[in-house]
Amino acid sequence: MSKIGSARVFDQLAAEPRRDPGVRILGVSPLNALAGDVERNRRTPLAGIRGAAARLRPPPSGAMPGRRTTAASPRHATPSTGDAVWSWTDSRFAQLLGERGATDLATKAVPFFRRERGPEELARLFAVFRVGEHHAVITIGDWLKHTEALEVKEGFARLIWHEARHTIIWTRRMRELVGTRVVEQHYPDPRRVEGGASPEYFRLWDEYAKADSLARRLAYIYVVDAWAGFAYTACLECIDPVTRWHLQTILADEGFHVSFGEEMAAKYVTGGKEREELAREEEKIVGILANVTDGFLTSEV
Ligand SMILES: [Fe+2]
Ligand SMILES: [Fe+2]
Repeated sequence: MSKIGSARVFDQLAAEPRRDPGVRILGVSPLNALAGDVERNRRTPLAGIRGAAARLRPPPSGAMPGRRTTAASPRHATPSTGDAVWSWTDSRFAQLLGERGATDLATKAVPFFRRERGPEELARLFAVFRVGEHHAVITIGDWLKHTEALEVKEGFARLIWHEARHTIIWTRRMRELVGTRVVEQHYPDPRRVEGGASPEYFRLWDEYAKADSLARRLAYIYVVDAWAGFAYTACLECIDPVTRWHLQTILADEGFHVSFGEEMAAKYVTGGKEREELAREEEKIVGILANVTDGFLTSEV
């Protein structure tokens, strides 16, 4: 058995032809306390390799998970974890922005989300993200009981579970960055964060909660989550490996949410009046999100 550095292990795995099934590499860490981190740090490159492989693979003749061209012609999406194969640029949100609007958004906001931040700043940014995730849990929980179609109910239930998972991920990461006591002192309520978030950000979640028809609710799901996909994708390239690994899971979920919302809108929002309501709501949400983006750019996070 030879001893080599961990980075070379993955190079070697990729370079050597596949052998019989079984253990090929044994990782030994002398520090028990870091066992969790070591395990995660080994998973991150594997997730990256899987993501790169998925990107290099030509799309199948049918569906590409989470990818969309229009709300009117949805394809089925399969949620997955670990690989960020979904791109917000294929969403209805990007379509609503148009090529120029999407480019403007990326030019303006990507540098903000990619800015290098210390642990305190990162914890504050994640606290802001957490506000949205937790509001989604509460609001979609309310919608669930007023929804008739079983298929939509099932999707809402899955979304609630995912958004709760995202809330927990951000909380855990904040604790790892600044400690549990600081999180409890400064970020006691996952629905609020003092400073760092603009009033428009909270208005977005208030409006989200006020959506009183299936058309309006679905519009919030697929437009807002595509914006979240944009923000998370922008963070992906510059964030530390542990957060990046979590973000890949979250992004895969958000890709499913966008696909689900668009698919259900195409299936259940079919009447002329409802389609008009949907279009009006889409426009309104895109306007709020433009203000939310501007709010982020001038905020303290
Ligand atoms: Fe989420
Ligand atoms: Fe979501």
